[in-house]
Amino acid sequence: MDDLSLTDERLRTALQNLRWINRWLGGYRASRTALAPLLQRHSSLRVLDVGTGGGDYLPQLVRWGHEAHCRVTAVGIDLNPVTVGHGRDWLDTALPAPLRAQAKIEVGDALALPYPNDAFDVGHAALFLHHLYDEEARTLLQELHRVSRHGLLINDLHRHPWAYAGIWTLSRLLSFSPMVQHDGPLSVRRGFQRSDLQALAAEAGLPVPRIRWHWAFRWTLSTLPVA
Ligand SMILES: C[S@@+](CC[C@H](N)C(=O)[O-])C[C@H]1O[C@@H](n2cnc3c(N)ncnc32)[C@H](O)[C@@H]1O
Repeated sequence: MDDLSLTDERLRTALQNLRWINRWLGGYRASRTALAPLLQRHSSLRVLDVGTGGGDYLPQLVRWGHEAHCRVTAVGIDLNPVTVGHGRDWLDTALPAPLRAQAKIEVGDALALPYPNDAFDVGHAALFLHHLYDEEARTLLQELHRVSRHGLLINDLHRHPWAYAGIWTLSRLLSFSPMVQHDGPLSVRRGFQRSDLQALAAEAGLPVPRIRWHWAFRWTLSTLPVA
């Protein structure tokens, strides 16, 4: 999915499969759990979602805020302009008109964010960190930390044999695209142990994060305040 030359129907199908995975394998729930205290405490929040792909999380963020009486404005960025086009189409269908203006997607590089310090309240990245080499991962954490006033929230995969076997089997049973059948298990292999995340956060110079495990085989790493 990081191949910018990939622009055809395979990309759209892979983004749809990812949406299923985020919905049914605990992706949304993990981020919502970590954000809940902040949504309860604030009447408005600006959230940046990097490596946003099809923008899956953006309507969720806006809705979670709406339900908690917090006006969330959600900005997604992705390096692939074709992916951004699919994401914008998704926002048009996923959000009702009154909430649609609260979400947008821009083309941009998560490793050199085109925003000033503290431009957002929360920096979020889901299923993105494991795509990066160590040095890039540190840069991502530093960039997200720089632009996020309250802190950052990373949502990513637990490297575990059951997670590998699970996604290998499910992606075939559900006839996911060949790309997702290949990338899903590979992504788990590139996922994290708790100690990997602790080391990355320390190397990036972040405040000591809270790292929490969620079903199904997800981690959240958060520097957001809890109270
Ligand atoms: C696996 S997708 C994750 C999509 C979404 N966050 C989700 O959870 O469904 C990773 C995305 O990161 C994007 N990407 C890769 N390198 C990037 C970069 N340097 N800056 C922004 N986006 C990037 C890819 O184009 C791809 O859409």
